[in-house]
Amino acid sequence: MIVLGIETSCDETAAAVVDGDRRIRANVVLSQTEEHAPFGGVVPEIAARAHLQHLDGIVRRAMDDAGIGWGELSGVAATAGPGLIGGVLVGVMTGKAICLAHGLPFMAVNHLEGHALTARLTDDVAFPYLLLLVSGGHCQLLTVEGVGRYRRLGTTIDDALGEAFDKTAKMLGLGYPGGPAVERLAVEGNAKRFPMPRPMKGRAGCDFSFSGLKTKVRQTIEALPPGPVTDADAADIAACFQAAAADAVADRTANAIDMFRAEHAEAETLVVAGGVAANAALRARLSEVADGHGMRLVAPPPALCTDNGAMIAWAGIERLGLGLTDDLDFKARPRWPLDPDAPKAAFAGAKA
Ligand code: KG4
Ligand code: ZN
Repeated sequence: MIVLGIETSCDETAAAVVDGDRRIRANVVLSQTEEHAPFGGVVPEIAARAHLQHLDGIVRRAMDDAGIGWGELSGVAATAGPGLIGGVLVGVMTGKAICLAHGLPFMAVNHLEGHALTARLTDDVAFPYLLLLVSGGHCQLLTVEGVGRYRRLGTTIDDALGEAFDKTAKMLGLGYPGGPAVERLAVEGNAKRFPMPRPMKGRAGCDFSFSGLKTKVRQTIEALPPGPVTDADAADIAACFQAAAADAVADRTANAIDMFRAEHAEAETLVVAGGVAANAALRARLSEVADGHGMRLVAPPPALCTDNGAMIAWAGIERLGLGLTDDLDFKARPRWPLDPDAPKAAFAGAKA
């Protein structure tokens, strides 16, 4: 089995070729960072136009890197949501067109399922497993029971973790995207200098909250002497924020392990996925939690945590293997929860 995967749901134009033996034969990612940087965040219209301009060339390059022709493909998978709908449409239309022209099966992939299944591409991970999904738009703990079978245990009641990193970066004048910049700066900082809250720590369940932490970062900056934030102060704030965030996530994940184990006593794998899973401090903290609970932590290499086409191709392979293909009239979805039956989080305004 060889599948072409296409990803265009946010600000990465990506295509990859992956085979059924878990070999990544090509993985091309074009980041739009420079197009969006002047605006301090992703501008949907600019993203859609950039995907349209670049996707054909990126697909061509992936096929060339893999050294295969259309006839050797078993199918094409494209992210069909959730995400910025203009970009998602570009990827879906391109995927469908290739399938139509070459008589191939089409797989409409949920972007979050791409993140969720990446660990099965990079490591030997069997169902069921506990998944911490931390990205720019999502912060959830889920039981992964199988392809297309997810049960949400907890979610954020306000911001996603990646959003909190991005906003902290913006307040510190670090620019966009913020997560990697905060991580780089935090390495040089003193994580004990400023007190920061660990939102939800000690509470039952495994929901998250990050808005209080974000407010504390703002108040800490405002309490500094007037004038631009010095490099040393910025590093200390980044370090304190990152330590608090990692601590809060560790606490929530420990509770989730107990919830997960109550139903799957024999299961032993904790997977972390999504862009923020690239963060080394978070991975270290999660590894301690996993060790303390007799669990194994699986964290894909950072380049496969942030958005890429290989995760979409792999989800396509998993789906194709189960006969889960989609019609060419499949409609792109701006919203598409992994667990449609999940109750709303504890507070109003919670994200799905
Ligand atoms: O999964 P992803 O690439 O896109 C979405 O589906 O959202 O995640 C992007 C998010 C951004 O908020 C970015 O700042 C964050 O992941 N991120 C990081 C790191 N690398 C990316 N956050 C913290 N540390 C990192 N090293
Ligand atoms: Zn993502």
